[in-house]
Amino acid sequence: MSVVVANRDELKQRIQQLLATDLVSVNALLNRQFRNPNMFVHDVAQHVGRFQGKQIRPILTLLSAQLFCPDSAARDNVHRLAAVVEMIHTATLVHDDVIDDASLRRHVSTVHRRWNTETSVLFGDYLFSKAFHLAATTGDAEACRLIGLATDRTCEGELNQIAARLEQSMSERDYFRVIGGKTGHLFAVSCLLGSRTAGGSIAHQAQLKQFGMRIGLAFQIADDVLDLTETTEKTGKDASNDLSNHRLTLPLIRALRLGTDHEQQRLHDLLTSSDADDQARLLDERIVRRGVESAQSTAEHFVRRALRNLESLPPCPAREILAGIAQFAIHRSA
Ligand code: IPE
Ligand code: IPE
Ligand code: MG
Ligand code: MG
Repeated sequence: MSVVVANRDELKQRIQQLLATDLVSVNALLNRQFRNPNMFVHDVAQHVGRFQGKQIRPILTLLSAQLFCPDSAARDNVHRLAAVVEMIHTATLVHDDVIDDASLRRHVSTVHRRWNTETSVLFGDYLFSKAFHLAATTGDAEACRLIGLATDRTCEGELNQIAARLEQSMSERDYFRVIGGKTGHLFAVSCLLGSRTAGGSIAHQAQLKQFGMRIGLAFQIADDVLDLTETTEKTGKDASNDLSNHRLTLPLIRALRLGTDHEQQRLHDLLTSSDADDQARLLDERIVRRGVESAQSTAEHFVRRALRNLESLPPCPAREILAGIAQFAIHRSA
């Protein structure tokens, strides 16, 4: 399927045009979840909710539903499930920032920097639990099962990431297992839940689930590139956080594979150095730039495959926007 959205601004505009009222409902639901009479819970929730993320997962749920023109009862459940996937995502970020010892998220201090680790752990748990509670209000046991399963996979992905670092794994197999787990499954279920709730056929649901997995993989590869190439001001999160955690992501795995023995040794020295200037110099290395290009072309490969998943779906504005999201998931600065 070809992409008809010309640039990111047009994509944002078209999302707003098509989904404005849906997004208002989803955000009203999210705000309601964050409201709490307990002062401390209220403060933490306000802090985390101060800046919205890109909301790509709930947008995928809404678009995957729009393809099948849901009736109003189905739309109500789609809104709840869209809010659920965003809450699960936010919970994983609150925990991920502790794991990654990150200082900044969505341009504000992470919860553990603003308060402490106990607060992050418990607030993340609280968000997970609230998300499952909200999912249960749909009365759709299968949707709840799918959400539980995707959350299991996300946690397994984060755990496998720790294992890969402990083993100093440079294997692409381990890398893809990690990113499929920690990012791919939630993208996949976001699409699946929208299409299923709106009455899409089993075959269409399967296409959308695979579409979600593929753009999730592409999205995470792009994030791993941005970690190396973008500034904190642009992304709103710590630059080079993966490097600080000695985490080998696809651009560096490729750089190590493509380099000569000499380049590999030099890169290894820079990667194991605790000197921030050495890390900053990394991108000056020709081989790292080649690693970045190679990772980007793999992300593009996943986007092309994802676009194929859209071919059998009903042609409509929602499908065009899904194609635009796939395209721009890897051409972004945050
Ligand atoms: C960040 O996700 C974590 C990754 C899977 C790369 P997003 O980039 O979707 O974060 P927000 O919600 O927009 O802040
Ligand atoms: C994604 O990994 C985290 C989750 C899916 C929980 P990253 O660690 O790369 O995400 P950022 O860069 O902190 O947003
Ligand atoms: Mg992180
Ligand atoms: Mg990252």
